[in-house]
Amino acid sequence: MKRSEINRLIDETIEWLKVQKVYLPPFAYWTAEEWAEKDAAYNEIRENMLGWDVTDYGHGNFHKLGLLLFTIRNGNLKNTRYAKPYAEKMLISEVGQISPNHFHWSKMEDIINRGGGELCIQLWNATEDDALDDTAVTVRIDGCETVLPAGGILRLKPGQSITIPPRLYHMFWAEGEKCLAWEVSMVNDDNIDNRFYEEQLRFTRIEEDEDPHHLLCNEYPVAK
Ligand SMILES: [Fe+2]
Repeated sequence: MKRSEINRLIDETIEWLKVQKVYLPPFAYWTAEEWAEKDAAYNEIRENMLGWDVTDYGHGNFHKLGLLLFTIRNGNLKNTRYAKPYAEKMLISEVGQISPNHFHWSKMEDIINRGGGELCIQLWNATEDDALDDTAVTVRIDGCETVLPAGGILRLKPGQSITIPPRLYHMFWAEGEKCLAWEVSMVNDDNIDNRFYEEQLRFTRIEEDEDPHHLLCNEYPVAK
């Protein structure tokens, strides 16, 4: 993705969240220049990759295949300084913008539709060799056990949520209007815990056509 596109998407999201009266922690608003002044007291943000995450999964068409996320909190399976066993993310899913089919090797996550349109989630069990299974899928929707056919699509209305266990393939997108979605999960390591059904990059490649307004979660400079 071009840096100018990432800048515009984050700037527009910050403005949209103000209208929605949704508030993120202070580090959401720091500029690249402000980050350069931050000392080791902020290492939890750096080491646990908190913050902005804008991805087109390497395909170059963000509005068709992409997601804008902000990780609010996360632990770290590789660093005993961080005992936190849970994570929380904001996910903004646009109408018709696919988050591609994947499962997590170890993370269990709840995906919540906090508002906007309907959040559509398509589900498959995985076979032992990580293909799509044709067996029925059993999931819990806000405490209600629900059975769907393989590849069935759930439509979460604002306020509804789903629990996605490890090894359950899921892809999602918004319908009607964009969704402010949320994720509450176990500790998340996006470098190693995603198994995409079709090969993709988890993090985009960036073409630097202007200076960054806000840094992404994998771009922080080392502590001053
Ligand atoms: Fe997921």
